[in-house]
Amino acid sequence: MIKIGLLGLGTVGSGVYSILEKHKENLKSKVGTELRIEKILVKDIDKKRDIDFDKALLTNNVEDILENPEIDLIVELIGGEEPAYQYIVQALKNGKAVVTANKLLIARYGQEIMGLAAEKGVSVSFEASVAGGIPIIRPLRESFAANKIERIYGILNGTTNYILTKMTEEGQDFQLALKEAQKLGYAESDPSSDISGTDAAYKIAILSSLAYETAIDIKDVHIEGIENIEIEDIELAKELGYLIKLLAISKFTPDGIDIRVHPAFIPEYHPLASVNDVYNAIYLYGDSVGDVMLYGQGAGQMPTASAVVADIIQASKEIYYGSPDINGHIYKNDHKVKDISQVHNSFYLRLQVKDKPGVLARIAEVLGRNQVSLASVIQKHRYAPVVPIVLVTHQVKEENLQKSIAEFKNLGEVIAINNIIRVEEL
Ligand SMILES: NC(=O)c1ccc[n+]([C@@H]2O[C@H](COP(=O)([O-])OP(=O)(O)OC[C@H]3O[C@@H](n4cnc5c(N)ncnc54)[C@H](OP(=O)(O)O)[C@@H]3O)[C@@H](O)[C@H]2O)c1
Repeated sequence: MIKIGLLGLGTVGSGVYSILEKHKENLKSKVGTELRIEKILVKDIDKKRDIDFDKALLTNNVEDILENPEIDLIVELIGGEEPAYQYIVQALKNGKAVVTANKLLIARYGQEIMGLAAEKGVSVSFEASVAGGIPIIRPLRESFAANKIERIYGILNGTTNYILTKMTEEGQDFQLALKEAQKLGYAESDPSSDISGTDAAYKIAILSSLAYETAIDIKDVHIEGIENIEIEDIELAKELGYLIKLLAISKFTPDGIDIRVHPAFIPEYHPLASVNDVYNAIYLYGDSVGDVMLYGQGAGQMPTASAVVADIIQASKEIYYGSPDINGHIYKNDHKVKDISQVHNSFYLRLQVKDKPGVLARIAEVLGRNQVSLASVIQKHRYAPVVPIVLVTHQVKEENLQKSIAEFKNLGEVIAINNIIRVEEL
């Protein structure tokens, strides 16, 4: 029998409890022995809960779990940094295997936690930390192990994907789409981590660390959110044959890892363009396997619990048969992250300019001097004092584009720079 200590009985914890109860017999035959929840840590023992469970399992004293020698496996579903970090460290020090869904902890302390686990001869698993129900952590470690992963593109945040889908398909503005996402429970009351791109950044940092076996510091990930996307940008993207998605990007290049999260124009025919609503997807390229796309529900109670229980099954087998996978996660390399100023991209720029002769020539002169060449120019309305123009550049070094933008700000003809969005041809 494998005895489990569950830390947290909230959204995901309740889902995990239900699956372990509902599929008890099936799981027993899969693992070869019974999986039993021995204790459950919660903050408030008296809280009313929606699931049927044995109340005698509840405790609010973590020592009942972490210092219980009978417990083999800890499942951390509290979330956040503290006390989850301390609990995981203490569990590992006491020789217990750990399963967690906590992206923040793995992105910030993955290297240290995995090192400690290896030292203690136990495993740490975190399938649910990225893209909820979509299997991607184990595939990166096992199914794609024969590959050098060269690039990963992810739609890794359901809330922002829902908002952008509503803006694209129904013409809703950002605030209205966000309110609807909150009403439907897709966005938290404080949605800042989703909207700002931070949530997706933690996830792409974890995927990149595994893919390139190098610890990525979240501080090195360039992050931009979707808060400045306007309906005009969505409409212009369509006109140019693109859709706007919040894209998490990671590319292994000879001069460093290019890792970033930002809204991007992607071609309307690309498979990622059809990933809508709260769905997530990961599109990667490995040198042997070629292009692969994984698609599914990136959050939610049962999809996330499904990934957690898969980890529990694997970790339990390893404990039961005495063969923990302690080496699979250790990052062996020290690749550097490329500074965003050195990354090449094509850009969409939406400006407001004075409608008078020679304006376009002045703008083109600034761009040309900074080695930025134009792929297309759209000028829609005429005969008004101020008109919008849209420029799309060829591939340029980001620092050259930024120099041009700085010069635009001093040009009397440029009234406003409404938006700058990278174009990813994928
Ligand atoms: N929800 C999702 O769709 C989703 C998707 C992917 C990953 N995740 C990750 O899964 C983890 C759990 O998320 P969740 O949505 O299930 O969270 P949640 O609903 O807020 O549940 C948290 C649980 O932890 C308990 N808890 C919190 N702080 C505690 C403390 N200091 N001591 C003891 N118990 C404590 C709470 O106890 P009480 O019940 O007594 O309040 C609650 O049972 C997070 O790392 C999250 O990022 C969630």
